Amino acid sequence: MRSTIPAEAYIDETWFAREQQLLMRPLWQFVAPRMLLAKHNAFVTRNICGIEVVVQNFQGELKAFENICLHRQNPLQQQPQGIRPLVCSYHGWGYDSEGRVENIPFQDTAYRLPSQERECLKLRRFPLECIGNLVFVNVAPNSLKLDEQFSMEALSSLRSASEHFDSEVLIAILPTKLNWKLAYENLRDSLHPRYLHQQSVYQQVKFQVQMDEEAVKSAKHYHANGSAEHEMHLVHLREFSNGGLNEPLVQMPRYAWHDNVERYGSDDWYLNWLVFPNLHIASGSGGYSFIIEHHQPVSAARTDLIIYYITARKTRRYPTSAAVLLAHLEGAEKVLREDISVMERVQAALKPGAPRATLGDFEFGNMAVERWYMDVMEGRHAF
Ligand code: FES
Ligand SMILES: [Fe+2]
Repeated sequence: MRSTIPAEAYIDETWFAREQQLLMRPLWQFVAPRMLLAKHNAFVTRNICGIEVVVQNFQGELKAFENICLHRQNPLQQQPQGIRPLVCSYHGWGYDSEGRVENIPFQDTAYRLPSQERECLKLRRFPLECIGNLVFVNVAPNSLKLDEQFSMEALSSLRSASEHFDSEVLIAILPTKLNWKLAYENLRDSLHPRYLHQQSVYQQVKFQVQMDEEAVKSAKHYHANGSAEHEMHLVHLREFSNGGLNEPLVQMPRYAWHDNVERYGSDDWYLNWLVFPNLHIASGSGGYSFIIEHHQPVSAARTDLIIYYITARKTRRYPTSAAVLLAHLEGAEKVLREDISVMERVQAALKPGAPRATLGDFEFGNMAVERWYMDVMEGRHAF
């Protein structure tokens, strides 16, 4: 079957801007793991669909605001994460938990803003939801409900897995030269690991193609016909996020530090969650450790891969926990580099009018996503 997504969808900046507007902004977007925001005044800043967002902890409550000072548009927080009150570094304006300006130094002697004007000063606020330890925001004016985007099953699985995350987090950012869609398509392709990852993860996990004939039939039908009703369009969206047990591990790795953490589940399996559109969570150790991969679109041909390495939560502190995370990073990076290098080659070969992809039956997951995607981009369904 021929793909309906043209090369322009991966390379064209005008397409990218429309995609941000029509498809990405209405969706709930992952921001960061909640463990980074545990303390009062802890914050993270991320660019969400072209909007600079700060999520800040105010006495235990998380709030999301546009990260731009109302005085002269200086970014309020400048680091990707940290602990600092919400105070602008340019002239010291301070903001409260409602996003109101609570302190303007030299207000009476220098600014002399009328109280009416002061009272109207309020940061743009965005809805925020936590799924366990995963923080999401929505930057659209009318946001979709979280349970319209994710099924109850996906929400409960993500909640219970992420509640097992430990508070110690190692973060790595890999800038890549690829369109974010290549990453989600690659993650839904269970055939490539035996070639691309033959010497890495495939040694441990024999990924199998799932030829679920009913699912193939229904994906083909959906690809050809789409969904007439908006409610069905949302039903399809919910099907794109799911996860849990994926494949058994050839050999369960055993390490001494496993005794210091509370494992998630008890199956010696590879665990895998796909969270549409751009989040992937996996455990290659049967629930002892996790990797969160966030594919953050930067432009048509640039994506920042933000990766969080964590173990299951500690039952006791142990001196090598930082080294465990570093070893985890080194192990995972080999596989990530294999994926990134092939996707960057694919990206580099995409030119206007390049031949479209050919999808086999086993790619029924991607078939459904691409129908949904083109229905949004071609205006057959809006949010
Ligand atoms: S720009 Fe923020 S206080 Fe002046
Ligand atoms: Fe891969």
